[in-house]
Amino acid sequence: MSRQNLKLYNENCLENLSRRLSPGSVDVVVTSPPYNLGIAYNLYDDTESRDSYLDWIGQWAREIKQVLADDGSIFLNIGSKPSDLWGPHEVLFELRNFFQLQNEIHWIKSITIQPDHSQNRAELNIGHYKPINSQRYLNQCHEYIFHLTHNDDVQLDRKAIGVPYKDKSNIKRWGRDNQDLRCRGNTWFIPYETIQNRQKDRPHPASFPPALAEMAIKLHGLEKTRLVVDPFLGIGNSALAAQQLKLDFVGFEIDPDYLKTARERLGEQQRQLF
Ligand SMILES: C[S@@+](CC[C@H](N)C(=O)[O-])C[C@H]1O[C@@H](n2cnc3c(N)ncnc32)[C@H](O)[C@@H]1O
Repeated sequence: MSRQNLKLYNENCLENLSRRLSPGSVDVVVTSPPYNLGIAYNLYDDTESRDSYLDWIGQWAREIKQVLADDGSIFLNIGSKPSDLWGPHEVLFELRNFFQLQNEIHWIKSITIQPDHSQNRAELNIGHYKPINSQRYLNQCHEYIFHLTHNDDVQLDRKAIGVPYKDKSNIKRWGRDNQDLRCRGNTWFIPYETIQNRQKDRPHPASFPPALAEMAIKLHGLEKTRLVVDPFLGIGNSALAAQQLKLDFVGFEIDPDYLKTARERLGEQQRQLF
């Protein structure tokens, strides 16, 4: 059995993606770039002008295009703030110069569900969000995950993250393979894990849960995935997912502290596995 390869570089992805990776070698990119919302990272300045931010988006998209396999997938997580909702859409318009938008997924962080209005049953409130005090804007309970591909033609393994049918008669009606699984659709409820101590347990201002990366990779298809890449690694949640799925992984992060945390977390996981 071949050994899993996990490489985390304390490097700027722009200058090193094509130096470290061969053309067409990457099956899945799962990543979350800085959103340019003035988030207080240790090193990165998240307060660029919109034009220079979009120009920078184009620069790394060009690099990723070189290394992405013909049937590769990019899952790009990006959020916005209530007073600047255009951000993710402007990023998409820039990315349109390089990729096709094959799917648009909503990462639901928090939701209130009224199971059945007519029966007056109690509503269910699940997940976490950052409440805002405003008469104009709604609380932001979701972020985007844009699924980008070269040609809008990547075959996905929808059942790998499928959900059981509620009405079992649908198994025969819709399921060609008699499996009790349907496509989950494009709303993914993935709550953050509850933590006790922010600085110790999640020392990064804008991370995603490893489950988000895991679902994205499985949707692309485990059988055809050898190498996963995250150009904006943060504290290594995409690497944790790749490690769990026993896939090769390459990550880039300019901040040595975040990278150190990522390495420590991967080490801990490794100890739990063996
Ligand atoms: C939104 S965060 C990613 C968080 C990550 N998904 C996680 O769960 O921890 C973006 C990260 O990109 C890093 N970064 C910014 N510019 C970079 C560059 N040119 N190359 C590599 N990393 C960069 C920042 O330091 C920040 O940690």
